Amino acid sequence: MNLFVANWKMNMTRAEARAYVRELSGFLGAGTPAVELVIAPPYTAIDAARDSVDKARWSLAAQDVSSETEGAFTGEISARMLADAGCRYVLVGHSERRYLFGEEETALQRKLARTREAGLTPIYCVGETQQERAAGLAAATLARQVEALAKDPADSPLVVAYEPVWAIGTGIAAEPADAASARVHLAELLSHRPKLRLLYGGSVAPENARRLLETARVDGFLIGAASLKASTFAAIAGLVKRKT
Ligand code: PGA
Repeated sequence: MNLFVANWKMNMTRAEARAYVRELSGFLGAGTPAVELVIAPPYTAIDAARDSVDKARWSLAAQDVSSETEGAFTGEISARMLADAGCRYVLVGHSERRYLFGEEETALQRKLARTREAGLTPIYCVGETQQERAAGLAAATLARQVEALAKDPADSPLVVAYEPVWAIGTGIAAEPADAASARVHLAELLSHRPKLRLLYGGSVAPENARRLLETARVDGFLIGAASLKASTFAAIAGLVKRKT
């Protein structure tokens, strides 16, 4: 089953989140969708983004998690708190965390460990910068970033999102053939992981989603800007007819 993750980033008040999920709910109807949907709201909107229908038609992800368990860490949110708030997934190592907030692999390893301790599934993000790509270091970058997963239990479900940094928020998605070779490379690096799902992220839109899914043969998408409208997220996930 394909997986579509809406990464709202630092957007959406609670009222906006409620309006969004009402609209999304309308696209879904009462049935269980044929795809897996996840919304990653900011912490303050987690509750508002929950599916109020008994059998939830989408689940929730946090956009980040503390590398610590609990205690005197002002401003941090622990994995246990996220589980308690109803999250099922946690984004770990999003490029905005890596490059805007200086998160490095040692911290990310700790975040992965905290995520597992709380029974949550990480959506671990990897991807090369434009400079690394130009220097022919894309594959080496992915190999290095994947090392943070060395201690992650191999038989646990894992989602890895390939998000080339140069494609995030630029409107220029990777060519499906490039996304496909990154997927093949990551599948090789993680061939010992039986419950692995590989996503693509970076300027996914209704116009490029189908080609990326079919050619890159990924298991779904991590979607930023285009996920901020319920109708566009629904179009990418194939819940409504593709807009032209
Ligand atoms: P974008 O963001 O879809 O706006 O490029 C993707 C992401 O950062 O997860």
